[in-house]
Amino acid sequence: MISVAIDGPSGAGKSTVARRAAEALGYIYVDTGALYRSIGLFALLAGADCKNEDHLRKILPIIKLELKFVEGEQRVLLNGKDVSEDIRTPEASMAASDVSALPLVREYLLDLQRNMALSNNVIMDGRDIGTVILPEATVKIFLTASAEARAMRRYSELLAKNPSVTYEEVLNDINRRDEQDSGRSIAPLKPAKDAVILDSTMRNLDETVSLVIRTVCEKLSTLKE
Ligand code: DC
Repeated sequence: MISVAIDGPSGAGKSTVARRAAEALGYIYVDTGALYRSIGLFALLAGADCKNEDHLRKILPIIKLELKFVEGEQRVLLNGKDVSEDIRTPEASMAASDVSALPLVREYLLDLQRNMALSNNVIMDGRDIGTVILPEATVKIFLTASAEARAMRRYSELLAKNPSVTYEEVLNDINRRDEQDSGRSIAPLKPAKDAVILDSTMRNLDETVSLVIRTVCEKLSTLKE
């Protein structure tokens, strides 16, 4: 099986790029952030403290997460309910970042993610795919961009849903999440030693998708030699 790990900070375009590259290559796209977001959402709705390991210890046994693929699109089911849209709010993003810092939560999601790559050719995006989840991934990419470029992209997306959102708020949010995701002691956001680092700051979506596909194809061709 072929596995492509795409890690990097929030807003670098990982999910859109990974989805389009997977479509072009005929692989399954797995968005692992959706799993942390679903746990964060459940914890929020349950009134739990997302940073409290004891709270999460009580919650995890009553959570059932499933990933489904409908016409190539990943849908995430939380206790049977499709929460693919509900997990995209800024509150769910912060809750996801909080719960993702807990070893208990990362451990809980480990097998679910690994199993996806056992029986499918996958492009999996996240923060620790190349370093922890799939250390033997066929191709490892670390996709990054400046915080300002990432904030501007996210701001344009959010503006359509919420006209009162400001660029400064989004930039602050990105900086806070970067700090939290990179500074945590467990599975911090960092490139794997053998990752190819790609920067999307000065590239549009099409250019970044092409670059990712080219990187995958080049790596695969070296393996055939
Ligand atoms: O990729 P995303 O923005 O949907 O991720 C939401 C949060 O989950 C993010 O703050 C970091 C965390 N995350 C993680 O720690 N490990 C992953 N493999 C994916 C996401």
